[in-house]
Amino acid sequence: MDITEVIRTTFACREWTEDPVSDETLARILEHARFAPSGGNRQGWRVIVVRDPDTRAAIAQAAERPARRYVAMQMAGEGPWNAAFPSSVTDESAADVRVPRRLVDTYVDAPVLLAICVDLGVVASVDKELDRVGVISGASIYPFVWSVLLMARNEGLGGVLTTIPIANEPELKSLLNLPDHYAVCAFLPLGVPKRQLTRLKRGPVEGFTTIDRFDGESFGG
Ligand SMILES: Cc1cc2nc3c(=O)[nH]c(=O)nc-3n(C[C@H](O)[C@H](O)[C@H](O)COP(=O)(O)O)c2cc1C
Repeated sequence: MDITEVIRTTFACREWTEDPVSDETLARILEHARFAPSGGNRQGWRVIVVRDPDTRAAIAQAAERPARRYVAMQMAGEGPWNAAFPSSVTDESAADVRVPRRLVDTYVDAPVLLAICVDLGVVASVDKELDRVGVISGASIYPFVWSVLLMARNEGLGGVLTTIPIANEPELKSLLNLPDHYAVCAFLPLGVPKRQLTRLKRGPVEGFTTIDRFDGESFGG
């Protein structure tokens, strides 16, 4: 597949056929993804291929509470789980919200489930002293995560970058036996897509690009 096509068509796939994903295919995907960049080329990624059904069920279970909050925040007109504005939603106020199964079942249903973690001991988190939520640490792991998804697409597979269970990270860390200085970054369910989606909905360049300043003249378009 041509790189432009891969970039423009890698969609969030949450339903798969029964077809298995071979270890050879998975190994090939990881073999290419390892060329992703990371701060100082420290390559702090760690991949866990989660096969144990009980572990997968526990990950799905960990997604329930934060997924319920996510939906309740959406219903309250908030940007779910945003770190810029306070939320009016609590576990109690969200208790009766129905969780969409697609936010939970993927961890159990997918032919392959990868847990992607990062060693915070090697990541340069240059924004760690700022008075806002850290975002730079993610820049040393999500290029790798995205490369896995792009390479999966190139192999005819589909997956989705998911994070919702990570609101319960302490539970997940003991489940996966992670050392303290590791963070859980994403769960990637992967498999052969049940159906294809090739026209992704994304805003145009001129909607997010300006010249010289945030409020500068629009670029593009
Ligand atoms: C940082 C991040 C976190 C995400 N977390 C979840 C998640 O927990 N569960 C889920 O089903 N999808 C999750 N997604 C997938 C997004 O919903 C999806 O990428 C987006 O809606 C675009 O979908 P599309 O490519 O099919 O248009 C996440 C995506 C990103 C980039």
